[in-house]
Amino acid sequence: MREENKSSTLDFILLGVTGQQEQEDFFFILFLFVYPIALIGNLLTILAIHSDIRLHNHMYCFLANLSFVDIFFSSVTLPKMLANHLLGTEAVSFGGCLRQIHLIIALDNTDNYILAAMADDHAVAISRPLHYTTIMSPRSCVLLVVGSWVVGNANALPHTLLTVGLSFCGSQKVANFYCYIASLLKLSCSNIHFNVKMIYLGIGVFSVPLLCIVISYVHVFSTVLQVPSTKGVLKAFSTCGSHLTVVSLYYGTIMGMYFRPLTSYSLKDAVITVMYMAMTPMLNPFIYSFRSRDMKSALGKLFSKRISS
Ligand SMILES: *[C@@H]1O[C@H](CO)[C@@H](O)[C@H](O)[C@H]1NC(C)=O
Repeated sequence: MREENKSSTLDFILLGVTGQQEQEDFFFILFLFVYPIALIGNLLTILAIHSDIRLHNHMYCFLANLSFVDIFFSSVTLPKMLANHLLGTEAVSFGGCLRQIHLIIALDNTDNYILAAMADDHAVAISRPLHYTTIMSPRSCVLLVVGSWVVGNANALPHTLLTVGLSFCGSQKVANFYCYIASLLKLSCSNIHFNVKMIYLGIGVFSVPLLCIVISYVHVFSTVLQVPSTKGVLKAFSTCGSHLTVVSLYYGTIMGMYFRPLTSYSLKDAVITVMYMAMTPMLNPFIYSFRSRDMKSALGKLFSKRISS
């Protein structure tokens, strides 16, 4: 008879980024720096945008919300990893595991839709500047942002519920530093056929916003090429440069993460996972703040206000 564990009382063991002690120490130190930088960077972005009236427009509304999502996203896995390393434990409860699985998929989807909304906003601003205010009404940012959260969570829910139904036999050792859904499926002794199909479907759904981004940029580039002028190219580049950088970084790591056999895991995958979990959310505020003169001046004012008061 097979020994089945009831999943509700189960603890999982997180083996870490690579599972090698010295490398775990290195990643601990790395995350110890990366996590606070990600929090502070994203928090400052939100504060700067809210404090500067000139930044109260769609693009910065999306950017503030992107930072808001990224604060949550890095808080799902990094503090747990840091705490476990400090306490010398590797355990995570099944409930904690489920929470990580749900939040990672939900927030990732939300990020994805916000990036698509930003691309759409850029495309309208550049290719139909005269209609911008009628197409992008003040309410549309609220709608798009709320929609992103709802759709993100709706996309995650089936995966979470399917994972609740799994039973686990024998080893509960997750070969990762967080509860990665594919690593969990690998450990289950249930039939995971349907779960795997749902993940591939999820990746398909995930590609819809990417398609919107590609279409938006086709519009942007065709507009710029129709009336080729240095000024137009520069305007398009200054509007879209940061967004394109963030999008490339984001989808580059996402594709590295998910467009590979779901159940294999090597050192290369570990590096991609760290990029995806820790680096991307940290880098976004820097990419935007370094490139945008408005952001820099808003941040400067934020600090001088603090110092003078
Ligand atoms: C996100 O967008 C909403 C809707 O426009 C806005 O009210 C809110 O302040 C934004 N969130 C953050 C953290 O800036």
